[in-house]
Amino acid sequence: MIKTIPVINNKGGVGKTTTTTNVAAGLVRRGKKVLVVDLDSQGSASLAMGVHRQDLLPSSAEVLFGKVNIEDAIRTTDVRNLDLLTGSLHLANADTRLSKADHHQHRLQQALSRVKDDYDVILIDCAPSTSLLSVNALVAADAFIIPVAPSYLSLEGVISLGKVVKNVRLNLGEAAPVLGVLLTMVRRNDKQTRSIIREVRSHYGGKVFDTEIRDHPAIEDAPVSGSSVFEVAPNSAGAEDYGALVDEVLERLKRYGTIFRAVRNATNARSSHTDELTAAERLAL
Ligand SMILES: Nc1ncnc2c1ncn2[C@@H]1O[C@H](COP(=O)(O)OP(=O)(O)OP(=O)(O)O)[C@@H](O)[C@H]1O
Ligand SMILES: [Mg+2]
Repeated sequence: MIKTIPVINNKGGVGKTTTTTNVAAGLVRRGKKVLVVDLDSQGSASLAMGVHRQDLLPSSAEVLFGKVNIEDAIRTTDVRNLDLLTGSLHLANADTRLSKADHHQHRLQQALSRVKDDYDVILIDCAPSTSLLSVNALVAADAFIIPVAPSYLSLEGVISLGKVVKNVRLNLGEAAPVLGVLLTMVRRNDKQTRSIIREVRSHYGGKVFDTEIRDHPAIEDAPVSGSSVFEVAPNSAGAEDYGALVDEVLERLKRYGTIFRAVRNATNARSSHTDELTAAERLAL
């Protein structure tokens, strides 16, 4: 099953946190039990989900450093079936601390394996960097979502992320595929935006979600009240777009489940199912 899904792009400000929190809320509204893991030292996803800055501990950092069991660090939220492992400033020196630890690339995967059975989906909000934290997220991943704001600079983030993914595959033999590239903060009437979107769609083809998240003030405002766009502005274009994305995510989870399993098997043991493999490789970044 595809369960653990980092929302990742090396470029900052492309809508990773916004997508993590709103997709999590949308999945819960579709009856799923969801865990959000905040892997950003800024704790933005945790704050957006209503946690106060002074209440971020214990966080994912303490879990990764082996100081606290993940079961004791995960907290419930005001939303039923939506749990959270917070981020905190303690993640800021994670690279230095983790690099000296055993299994430093597998810390998150090992921790999540203890709670994976309790959830339908685990979304991970990543920081905009190619740190060991991102490697941990990629190693733990069953598939990942890459938000892209349609500007040339954010495309560069995707290209450098592609290199990290390749390295993880080469060095660790892990092979999580792309669940989807997501166009965010889209200004539909902007000519340059349209041209970049055409480029992204022609380059990444079927990997790009059909749904585009429009630039909408309700999406920007929702975190201020610690809620999702569905609660703050249920009839807005923002809720409409994230709702459509959640449907597409659920559809892809179902449709690609078998293929994704084949990607892993193929990379780990060179599967003999060549048809599946070809389809699977088409989905890889
Ligand atoms: N569709 C949207 N419409 C309007 N504003 C948006 C939209 N998506 C995100 N934003 C706003 O853009 C800013 C950046 O978004 P967000 O924090 O989700 O990006 P990020 O990729 O997580 O950033 P970072 O790399 O710093 O973690 C935020 O202020 C957010 O509220
Ligand atoms: Mg963020």
